[in-house]
Amino acid sequence: MSMNPKLRLGVNIDHVATIRNARGGDYPDPLRAAKLAAAAGADGITAHLREDRRHITDTDILRLCDEIDLPLNLEMAATDEMLEIALRHKPHAACLVPEKREERTTEGGLDVVGQHNTLKPFITKLLDVGVRVSLFIEPDVEALDAAKALGAPVVELHTGAYCDAPNGAERDIQFERIAAAAAHADTLGLECHAGHGLTYDTVKPVAAIPNLMELNIGHFLVGEAIFVGFEASIREMRRLMDEARSGARDA
Ligand code: PXP
Repeated sequence: MSMNPKLRLGVNIDHVATIRNARGGDYPDPLRAAKLAAAAGADGITAHLREDRRHITDTDILRLCDEIDLPLNLEMAATDEMLEIALRHKPHAACLVPEKREERTTEGGLDVVGQHNTLKPFITKLLDVGVRVSLFIEPDVEALDAAKALGAPVVELHTGAYCDAPNGAERDIQFERIAAAAAHADTLGLECHAGHGLTYDTVKPVAAIPNLMELNIGHFLVGEAIFVGFEASIREMRRLMDEARSGARDA
């Protein structure tokens, strides 16, 4: 697979909805955030419709499908309810993620090895209606091989352990896992994405991995928006990604 110089940025707007839902009203509006993200250079919008609807709601998904021009990446658990919603809306992409009701955020990758038979029909049904399916997995060879065996065209590598590493040595170890997994994905012919927990400080090494095609970033961008505005936070992330990519190309 050839190297892709342009790394896509998917902006996750879940936490605009988190802030809205803290008061239960209409603002801040995730749709407005999605439109701003488009203006700021995002290549896609990502939203996670959780079983408990703690941030994004069904109405948000409807409005995002109807009113934004960018491709929508719907993050969803492999449940019948979410499958029915995804088949109804047919977003550009669906990213299957593990979901535990009590977790604060998506804590680890999908158990693609153990859950093969459970996941397979979800993947098939989504692919059948033209939804590009990705599997959110740990950056491990076994998980990648299992994703390939499941017929998913795309994987998203969980960058949480890298971003949350308590020290530089551990971060280096976690980074190498991601780089090795991205290279393995390439040999399998899988399109490779990455995300979770990325910030201005952690994005550049990941963005420099040549065979990554897309990063999905949300929480940091929404937090930073408090200080600089959403467009500015996205533009700065985009700049850092492009800088890392052009450095990788020149190397
Ligand atoms: N990718 C996936 C699959 C996720 O579940 C999330 C969090 O919803 C992200 C990326 C974005 O993570 P963050 O909000 O920490 O940037």
